[in-house]
Parts: sequence; C-alpha cells; structure tokens
Amino acid sequence: MTKNIDPASPAVPENTGRRGFFIKMSSVAAVLASGGALTACGGSDPELYGEKAMFNYGVASGDPLSDRVILWTHAKISSPDSVNLTWQMAADASFSTVLFSGKTVASSDTGFTAKVDATGLSPNTEYFYRFIAPNDSVSAVGRARTLPVGSVAEVKLAVFSCSDYPAGYFNAYDAAISSGAQFALHLGDYIYEYKDGVYPPTASAVAARVSAPANEIVTLSDYRARHALHKADPYAKALHARMPMIAIWDDHEFANNAFMDGAENHNPTIQGPWSARKAAASQAYHEWMPIRSPDATNLLKIYRSFDFGNLLSLHMLDTRIIGREQAPDRKLDASGRDIADPAFLPYAYNPNKQMMGATQQTWLDSQMTASKATWQVLGNQTMMGRIKLPASTLLANLSVESVTAYLTAKGTPAAYLTQAQKDLLDPAKNPKIPYNLDAWDGYPAQREAVLNSASKLKAAGKKFVVLTGDSHNAWYNKLTLADGTQVGAEFAGMSVTSSGFESYFPPAAFPPVTLAGTIRALVDDISYLDTSRRGYMLITVTPAQVKAEYVYVSTVTSSSYTTAIDTLTYAG
Ligand SMILES: [Fe+2]
Repeated sequence: MTKNIDPASPAVPENTGRRGFFIKMSSVAAVLASGGALTACGGSDPELYGEKAMFNYGVASGDPLSDRVILWTHAKISSPDSVNLTWQMAADASFSTVLFSGKTVASSDTGFTAKVDATGLSPNTEYFYRFIAPNDSVSAVGRARTLPVGSVAEVKLAVFSCSDYPAGYFNAYDAAISSGAQFALHLGDYIYEYKDGVYPPTASAVAARVSAPANEIVTLSDYRARHALHKADPYAKALHARMPMIAIWDDHEFANNAFMDGAENHNPTIQGPWSARKAAASQAYHEWMPIRSPDATNLLKIYRSFDFGNLLSLHMLDTRIIGREQAPDRKLDASGRDIADPAFLPYAYNPNKQMMGATQQTWLDSQMTASKATWQVLGNQTMMGRIKLPASTLLANLSVESVTAYLTAKGTPAAYLTQAQKDLLDPAKNPKIPYNLDAWDGYPAQREAVLNSASKLKAAGKKFVVLTGDSHNAWYNKLTLADGTQVGAEFAGMSVTSSGFESYFPPAAFPPVTLAGTIRALVDDISYLDTSRRGYMLITVTPAQVKAEYVYVSTVTSSSYTTAIDTLTYAG
C-alpha cells in the first residue's frame, strides 16, 4: 500500500476533478493539473456531423417491455429543419415482410434525433428495424427484442458503465455483441462532461480519441454534440444496433459529483444556473438515449422498472439527480478524527440525508413488493456495499505502517495479542469508517431503509441483487444490514474505459492481486475485487442463481483486444 492517499487534502482542483473511490488523492490532483494543452479539433460547433449527413449515428433500441420497444435514430439534411421518416419492423433482416411501420420526424427541436415507441409487439421476440428518409436513404438495420412474460428460464444482460471517450476504445461494447446477451444495461457515465485534455489528461488519453466539443459541455448544443461523439463510435453503433439498451444516468451526464442543487464541477458564476445546465443535460439525454421518458413533463425523472416474466424485475434507479442531497463533506474535525467516524461527528449518518428522495424510495418499495418475480434487481449508480476501513489505516492515509499493523494484529492468535493490537481490533477504539461518502456509504440511513425492504422480500420467496457502476473497478460485495445480516449481493462492474485503481497504484509497483487482497482484508463486505482492468459484466439470471461473468478486455488503447473472464455466482 502507499502513503499517497490523503483524506484531509482538498479535492482535486475545481473543473478538473473526478469522482472515484480514492478521489482525494493529491497525486491525482497533480496529474490532472498537469493536463497540458488541448489537442482537440472540431471546436464547439454542435453540427459536427455535417450538412449532408444522414443516419450518421446509426440506430438504437431501448426500454423494451413485453409489447413495445423504443426505436431511435438521428437524421439530418441541409433543409428544411426537419426530416420526415418512415420506420419499419420485420421478422427478418431483409424486411421481406414488414410487420409494423409508421411515421416519425427528426427535427431541430430534438437535435435531429427521432424516437418511436413501437407497440403491439409479441413478447420475447426479436425484431429487425430500420428508418427510411424521403431521399430514399435507409438507416442501418437494428435488432430489437421484447421482454419475456410468464415462466422464464434465463435472461442475459450485458452491463456497462463509465465510457469515457478519450480514455480508450469501447472494446467492451464490441465484446458484448457476440456474448449472447439479450439486453444491454448502462449504469451511467455514458458520456463525460470535461473539456478535452482533462479526463484523462492528454498524456494518458488515446491520441485518436479526441473529445468533441473541445470545451467542457454546458449548453444544450454542447451536450448534444458530446452525445453525438459517442453515438458515432463504431463499437457503440454496433452494440446499439445489436440489442436494446436500458440506461440510467450517473453524474457525468451532467457534471462531476452532481446532486439536486449543484455539482462539484459546476460553477454558477461562470457557467450559469445549475437548473439550466440540468435542463440542457437531461434534454440531450432523452434526445440521444433510447429511453422511454417516464414523465414527459419532467425529464429529470428516469427511475423505472422492467419485468422479465416471473424471473426478474429490474428497477433502474436515479440516485444522482432527482433526489440526492449533497454528499457529506470529508474533513477532519479539530480532534483529528474523521467526520464519518460514528464515534465522533455523525454527520454522515444524518437520518434525513437523501440519496434518491423519499418519493423514489416509496416507489421502489411498492415496485419490489408488487413484483411477482424471483429476483429483485436494482440498476444503481454508486456502490451500495459498505466500503469501510479501519480508522487507524484510513486516518493514516493507508500508510504501509498502518496497514501492516492492522493486518498483523488481525492475523495474530488472540493469546499472543499485545494491548496495542487488541486496541486496533477493538471496534469501539478503532471503528471501521466509510471512505467514499459520494456512494451509499454517505447516505447510510436511506441505504438501511432500502436493505430493510430487501430483507422483507425473503418471506415472499424473492431475492435481492444490486448491479452497480461508477467505481471503474470490479467488485462483488455482500449487502448487509447494520446488524450484519446479509440480505443480498452487489455485482459492481468495471468501467468500459475510465481509469480505476491502476492510475493511482501502478500495477508494476502494486501488483493488482496484492492490492485487491489487501483491500479485501481491510474491508469486511468485499468478496471480490479487480483493481486494474476494464470491460463489462455479463449477467445471467436463472431461477436458481445470478451468475456474473466479469469480462475483461486486454486493452483499451487499441481496438484490437482479447478477453478474460472471472465468474462469480449468487444463489440468494
Ligand atoms: Fe465514471
């Protein structure tokens, strides 16, 4: 372990920060601050795609139900400022028999995106779809699928998060296309808001992956252009054409460490009212993502459920924008103790602090109660498991000495423990305290309420699993009540491209296996951790178990790659 974690140090510089497990690392601040000159081209012109372009961003489908699915595309010609489109669905890729068709419009009002909610479909059925423009140009052909009903033997989900364009190639998207996954989930950070050269800094970015627009995105046209950049990516296009996506946002679809009333990376003096930025970001999200907006009058509302017959109910949450109060601030009090230490200032345990709002929490309770499905699965942004470290190690910035002292005490037979070692192992004297207060650890009362609801599912024969993004690394955590009772499991996936632990702990100096083993030894509820690889989770749900295949890509600096898989299962 290293001494370069400093919980007391200031957050990374404004407008250069990123959120992550070890956000407060001064070394990160130094790296980001040295980001260097911009190398982006393309300027801030939102019309990156050019006047003659048609269907430059492919097609996408999303938010499948048993009888409907959203179909999406983008179409633009020089004039007029709207394009009338015909959409078609067929049972075969050649469209020999068109089963469903209709009209839609891509106009300047929606950034020339077009969306259709195709209804009247059969359950558990794959359809081919396409769009046709007045000049007879035809879009790529996509494959959509409806949800199953009744008794369901198996569902396969490809689960993604954190697809930072300049950080690398979206090889994880490509790997999932041939995985057998029926549906894709994206748990947020589909885009990042930073100006080019910031995250990652230019020196670490992939030269061919230049952000556009080059500036930090603030306005509607900015957000549209950033979404367009991601939709133009060949692997993103291919994934979206291959399977429906069910997506939720995290903070970077808006700005780093966003909450209801602001964000770490938002300066209202320079960038205008947060409400205006939220409106621009959410509008662009609904325009560019294949989401069925749950409330057309309130684009900030995206939480919604999907039923896969009696096997699985998927509840996609918004723990970031609609109801989140600002995360507790991490700083040391005058006595030198961490504010998250329950023995001192229990600000982090304010029972009224909301991460998703009371309305959403009530909705989630009623959805899980009403569902008849065996598996109640949450699609969730930040880590729900308790990532709590011994105070002696965290307050010493995870120094080698502090970690060694704690682990030595932990491994010493009781009869041989010194008094100092006994004190280290005494939770009253050396409590375990949460590190990342931006995650559910900063909102423990609402987490306890959600987990209490989960604990009541058991009597009804239901089981509880959480799928999580945000951290950029791969985890498998027990989900436990405050009294230690396990009520479920959390599969938290690695990022598509965004850097994780390996950017703070170079693998050459800190072998990932050693690093993961050390963190697992310090944190009670972690059962699996990978600290260095990118990829996605292939989740296979059957009545008996949830299987998570952590599919790692060998690189994101080249579009050529291989994969390796770690497999874990949870039977409930
Ligand atoms: Fe991220």
